[in-house]
Amino acid sequence: ANQPAETLPLHGLHVLVTAGPTQEPLDPVRYLTNHSTGKMGYAIAEQARDMGADVTLVSGPVTLSAPRGIDTVHVTTAQQMFNAVQEHFTQADLTIMAAAVGDFRPIEQSSEKIKKNGRINIDLQLTSNPDILAWAGEHKTADQTLCGFAMETQDLESNAAKKLTSKHCSMLVANNLNTPGAGFAVDTNVVTVLKPGATPDEPIIEHWNKMSKQELAERILTELAALRNTESA
Ligand code: CTP
Ligand code: CA
Repeated sequence: ANQPAETLPLHGLHVLVTAGPTQEPLDPVRYLTNHSTGKMGYAIAEQARDMGADVTLVSGPVTLSAPRGIDTVHVTTAQQMFNAVQEHFTQADLTIMAAAVGDFRPIEQSSEKIKKNGRINIDLQLTSNPDILAWAGEHKTADQTLCGFAMETQDLESNAAKKLTSKHCSMLVANNLNTPGAGFAVDTNVVTVLKPGATPDEPIIEHWNKMSKQELAERILTELAALRNTESA
C-alpha cells in the first residue's frame, strides 16, 4: 500500500462499475427485483481503487456500505441506473457492468396500493428496460474498454458468446448460477471468461478456477489493464 501512486497498474484511469440489483416498482409498497447482493461489483470497485483508479460506482439497492474513496451513485430502477451510466460513461476508460439489471418493469406504476378486491388471478404487464451494457457497447470509442458479465443457467458458452458479440464487449465474465461456489450471496465465484477471437463465432474462452470475489476482481482488472496495453501497443 506504500507503493508510489504513479506505479499502480490503474493509475490515471477512470473506472466505472455497475453493481447490485434494480428494483422496479409496482405500487408504493411492492417491487420486482432479483437476488443480487452487489458483492462482485463492489469487490471490483474496491479493487480498482486499490490499483490506483479513480472509481465511480453506480449501485442498485444493497446492504453493503458505500466504499471509502469511491464516488458512489445510488439508484433504484434500471432507468435510473441507465441515466447515471450515461452521465459518467464518456469519462470512463474502463467500464465494468456487474449489475443484475431488471430486464422488465411493470408497464404502469400504480400511485395507490393495488387492492385484492376478491380477485383470484391478476395479470401483470411488463415492458422492457433499456440494456445499459448494449448502449455502452454501441457508444464506446476505440480507447474505451468495456467488460460485461453474464449469468446463465444453461448453455453458458454459447449464450455468453452471443452477449460478448452483440454488446460489443472487450471481455465478458460468465457464470453459471448452478455451479457450486458461483452465483448470488456467496463469497466465491467460478467463471468462464470470453474475449473476441478472430471471428465473432470463435471467441477466446478461458475457464478460471473457483476463487474469492476479491481475488476474481483483481484478476479481471489485471486482464483488462493488459488488454488496454495490447490494444494501444
Ligand atoms: N445488462 C445491462 N442492462 C440490462 C440488462 C443487462 O447493462 N438491461 C448487463 C448486465 O449488467 C451484464 C450483462 O448485461 O453485464 C448481461 O446480463 P444478463 O442478464 O446475463 O444478460 P441479458 O443480456 O439481460 O440477457 P438474458 O437475461 O435474457 O440472459
Ligand atoms: Ca438479464
